[in-house]
Amino acid sequence: MEKSIAIVVLAAGKGTRLKSSLPKPMIDCQGKKLVDYTLLSAFNFLEQENIGKYTISLVTGHKREDVESYIKAEYSDKKIGFTFQSEQLGTGHAVQCYFDQNPSAKDYDYTLILCADTPLLESHVYQVLLQARDDSDSDAVVASMSVESPTGYGRIVPAKQGFQIIEEKDADQDVAKISEVNSGVYLFKTSYILDHLYGINTNNNAGELYLTDLFCSERNVQACCFPYADQFLGVNDFVQLEKAEHILNSRKVAQLQKDGVRFRDSRSVAIDFDVEIGEGSVIEANVSLRGNTKIGENTLIEVGSIIKNSTIENQVVVKAYSYVDQAIIHTNAGIGPFTHLRPNADIGEAAKIGNFVEIKKSVLEKGVKVSHLSYVGDAEIGENTNIGCGFITCNYDGAAKHKTKIGKNSFIGSDSQMIAPIELGEGCYVASGSTINKSMPAGAFAVARGRQVTKENLAKKFVKKK
Ligand code: UD1
Ligand code: MG
Repeated sequence: MEKSIAIVVLAAGKGTRLKSSLPKPMIDCQGKKLVDYTLLSAFNFLEQENIGKYTISLVTGHKREDVESYIKAEYSDKKIGFTFQSEQLGTGHAVQCYFDQNPSAKDYDYTLILCADTPLLESHVYQVLLQARDDSDSDAVVASMSVESPTGYGRIVPAKQGFQIIEEKDADQDVAKISEVNSGVYLFKTSYILDHLYGINTNNNAGELYLTDLFCSERNVQACCFPYADQFLGVNDFVQLEKAEHILNSRKVAQLQKDGVRFRDSRSVAIDFDVEIGEGSVIEANVSLRGNTKIGENTLIEVGSIIKNSTIENQVVVKAYSYVDQAIIHTNAGIGPFTHLRPNADIGEAAKIGNFVEIKKSVLEKGVKVSHLSYVGDAEIGENTNIGCGFITCNYDGAAKHKTKIGKNSFIGSDSQMIAPIELGEGCYVASGSTINKSMPAGAFAVARGRQVTKENLAKKFVKKK
């Protein structure tokens, strides 16, 4: 039979232990926000399960505007509702706010409650929980796990001692030793929550309304203990955040390896959640691939390179220690070592960019070469143009940025500068050491440097005698 489910994501807390100016759901974790992971797992679950009717609501409070505007922009194609918890009086209070503010919440058979700080959770956990509830016909199931170090988690007191969940702050020495802990994921029959949610109290050391108080031995409720604790890691401090990122990174690498990507030293790389890499590509040691970077097939990213939110096509070579941010590199091109591509650098097919070259907001067409020690900003450089060593676009006059255009098949000698705005036609030739401040028509030659004066035998006047 089709079930109807309301999914409630608790995301109102301050995240005090993370000591960040950002609200906890907005903290970056492998290129996404913490809250994204919980939402993704919820959407995956809804896709896989035969759910007749569903709703998703995010409980926000601390810096709610930041969280809500992010969610509205990022999930504009999804329907996510918001519940406002003005004061963070505990997880039980957060759920009370949800029912108070959403009159139709009671119409769903089940209420699945998730936290916004468990980025490793995968959707099959919710399926198992649903099955566990069906099998036992209980009113509520909490997902639990056994951990080596239970610090920070609510402890699951076993049935023989009277099943209940005791928070760390309220635990005596014996309870503190219990290794089975609450993951923060719960499936309730909605009717059960409504019967008991308003009966909980703040008689605990935190003075909060605990959702966990809905679990006690007198009721038809149970814990479903999962054998893999890593999935449930809650991110409450920077130690847990690093651990979560490390696990997400390992998962990502393992997936890419299955897809045919070779890592030379996978332990040293950082690959964000949304990164894509094509078959046959090789990633060397200490490479960071961030944000929504896409790398094509048979591309080589050499040691120490950092690539953020960029597209690198097929058969590209990014040589060692290059830094690429919001740029695109087309097929068969090569950059580095030590190339810096800044936002909107567009490197054409088979182009070659060499060491100590910085490129910003510029389109370099097919086969362009900028091989050494240059700055190219706000420029358009046509096909097969060769730029010598030590070239500079003087694009900024102290107030505004100006464009440099160089036509195709041109040759720009070493140590030249283009004072923008300036335009060179196709097939131009600029002699080395020129400072070009006037546009040139197609096919023109320019030399613009101080004339050389040679005086025979005059050197001795300037060379110090030993
Ligand atoms: C909670 C559980 C604990 C469990 C752990 C798992 C309670 C009382 N404790 O503790 O048993 O082992 O998760 O990770 O539930 N939140 C609100 N409003 C509030 C308070 C919290 O929305 O008033 C949200 C937070 O933003 C967070 C989630 O609820 O997403 C959990 O809160 P957190 O402070 O992280 O609780 P834990 O101490 O981790
Ligand atoms: Mg937590």
